[in-house]
Amino acid sequence: MNIKKIMVIGAGQMGAGIAQVCAVSGYDVILHDTNAEALDHGFKGIEKRLARDVVKGKLSEDDKHASILRIKKTDAIDEAANCDLVIEAVVENMDVKTKIFSQLDQIAPAHAILATNTSSLPITEIAAATKRPDKVIGMHFMNPVPVMKLVEVIRGLATSDKVFETIKQTAESLNKTAVEVNDFPGFVSNRVLMPMINEAIYTVYEGVAEPEAVDEVMKLGMNHPMGPLTLADFIGLDTCLYIMETLHEGFGDDKYRPCPLLRKYVKAGWLGKKSGRGFYSYSK
Ligand code: CAA
Ligand code: NAD
Repeated sequence: MNIKKIMVIGAGQMGAGIAQVCAVSGYDVILHDTNAEALDHGFKGIEKRLARDVVKGKLSEDDKHASILRIKKTDAIDEAANCDLVIEAVVENMDVKTKIFSQLDQIAPAHAILATNTSSLPITEIAAATKRPDKVIGMHFMNPVPVMKLVEVIRGLATSDKVFETIKQTAESLNKTAVEVNDFPGFVSNRVLMPMINEAIYTVYEGVAEPEAVDEVMKLGMNHPMGPLTLADFIGLDTCLYIMETLHEGFGDDKYRPCPLLRKYVKAGWLGKKSGRGFYSYSK
């Protein structure tokens, strides 16, 4: 199937990154968010990153300009009527996602593929909110999207081979490597990563070490580019908690219980870098 126009739902850190790489790769992009401020912030971030790429000599001024012109901002989900692929990247919550997929199913053309960037939620359950489960698929980008090479591609129970192949090719056209994994809570990436982050939070909670020390151990000792607590702040502590809850509920195994300190921070609105405070403080 020929994908020309892509709608991205959610202009947060993931949605804005996905819109950016799609536009730079030549796709027409519709970027949608219900929050006008978030939409504006997401779009400005794209402009800023592309301007930086020009300074670094990675992108020409003309290509930057053309990429920006290819992105249309909108607060109307109805614009899904004009696209071939929708990539949803809103909050990690099943109720919110199924509501959006049911709406998209009514609005998007019959040929359109509906993909979700969910970090952990079952693709099959999201697909069941539509009458086109064969055209629903997981397309899990990594953060920061313009830098990270991986896209986990996850079929739901009914996803067709044709849709899988189209999404794999689309990911490759974005200069990413697609890796197929099956539909289990957290897939591979977050089933392995998030328990490590949660355990790092337990070490702080139990007084084993300060956040800085935990991060230094993992950076210098294990060669991780970021320590687990810096990474948790970068991902968003709300997203980390939602993923741990999905693992805990999905497997029914207490080894996935979210650390109480993670819950406390999220309840306090300490969501990490995006809110200005998490395990570390960030000046806005
Ligand atoms: N957005 C876009 N580009 C960014 C960026 C951002 N937020 N942060 C850094 N970059 C770019 C820089 O511009 C720079 O690009 P050039 O090579 O063209 O100069 C490049 O990344 C390297 O940046 P820096 O030299 O400033 O910093 P660094 O060497 O420390 O790298 C990093 C930054 C790439 C983010 C690195 O720290 C890293 O790889 N961290 C781990 C990221 C990770 O694990 N991501 C997965 C998170 S889990 C996930 O995404 C799944 C989920 O569902 C939760
Ligand atoms: P974010 O909080 O940065 O952005 C979410 C955006 O969705 C916000 O701008 C919000 O206004 C918007 N939104 C909320 N409800 C909406 C609705 N009904 N319609 C339209 N827009 C709506 O979150 P994020 O970090 O970009 O994560 C988005 C998704 O990507 C989540 O499912 C998350 O699990 C997944 N993900 C996150 C990461 C990460 O590192 N943060 C990595 C991979 C995947």
